[in-house]
Amino acid sequence: MEIIKTAAEMTAWTRQRRLRGEKVCLVPTMGYFHEGHLSLMRLAAERADQVVVSLFVNPIQFGPGEDFASYPRDFERDAEAARKEKVAVLFAPEVEEMYPRPILTTVEVKQLTDGLCGASRPGHFTGVATVVSKLFHIVEPDSAVFGEKDFQQLAVIRRMVEDLNMKVEIIGHPIVRERDGLALSSRNTYLGEEDRDSALCLVRALKAVRAEVVKGIAAVSELKQLANECINKHPGTEIDYADFIDCGTLEPVSEVNRQTLLVMAVKINNKVRLLDNGLVMH
Ligand code: PAJ
Repeated sequence: MEIIKTAAEMTAWTRQRRLRGEKVCLVPTMGYFHEGHLSLMRLAAERADQVVVSLFVNPIQFGPGEDFASYPRDFERDAEAARKEKVAVLFAPEVEEMYPRPILTTVEVKQLTDGLCGASRPGHFTGVATVVSKLFHIVEPDSAVFGEKDFQQLAVIRRMVEDLNMKVEIIGHPIVRERDGLALSSRNTYLGEEDRDSALCLVRALKAVRAEVVKGIAAVSELKQLANECINKHPGTEIDYADFIDCGTLEPVSEVNRQTLLVMAVKINNKVRLLDNGLVMH
C-alpha cells in the first residue's frame, strides 16, 4: 500500500491506473478506522480494480465549538488496518495541502441540508460537499463508497453528483453495528462504560418502532411518541431529532410506508452525539 500526501501525486497515480484500463474506487474517511470503514473498503475492492482510501479530518465541516481539535486520530494504527485490506493507496494530505489558502469557493447543496443534522450543524454539509468535491477532483475515481449511517450525507453527495454532472458512481453501504446493535462510529471512543447502555437507546427505539409497525400501526404521530419515550427512558440522553422521513426526499411523512426512514441524533451525557437510522418496514 502506498501512502500519498500530495494532490498532484494522487492525480498522477489514478491517471496511470486509468491508462491501464483499471477502475478506481474511493473511500473518503476521517480516519480512526473501525469495522464500518473496513467494510466500505471491502465493498470498494469488490467494485473496482484499485481502492483509494482518503484520510483527512476536514476542518471546514466542523463548526465552532465542535470536536475538530480533539477528533480521534491514530495514523499508524489506521495505516496498519488499511494495509490488511485490499487498499492500493492511503491518501492522507495535511490541511495545508487541501487548503493552501482560505477557501473562497464552496459547494452548497440546498434544501436537503435544511433539516436534521443540517439544522443543528450549520455549514456542516457545505464543508462535507466541498471536501468530497475536492477529493473527487484530486483522486478522479470511477466510483466512491459512503455509509448509510450518515444518511443525510449520502443523500447530499448523491444530489451534488447529479446536479453538477460529476462522473462518479456513488455506492451506499449498509450500517455496520456492534454485536449489541450500536452503530459503529469513530466517536464511540468518547463513550465510557457508564454511557454504553444509554448509547443503545437509538437501536432500541428503531426496534420498538419496527415492532409496532409489524402490528399494523402506521401513524407517525404515535410511532414518534414511542421512539421519544424509548430514548428518554435511558439516563443522560438528549434528543436532537428523531424523525420519520421519506428516504428519497428527506421530507417528513405522517404515515409510514416502505420508503419511511426513522432518523435519529441523540446526545449521550453531553459527551457525544450519536446517529442512527433505519427503514421502519424492515
Ligand atoms: P467518517 O465519519 O470517517 O466516515 C467515513 C465513511 O464511513 C462515511 O461514508 C460514513 O458514512 C461511513 N461509516 C461510518 N460509520 C459507519 C458504520 N457504522 N456503518 C457504515 N458506514 C459507516 O463521513 C465522514 O467521515 C466525512 O464526513 C467525509 C465523508 C470523509 C468527508 O470529510
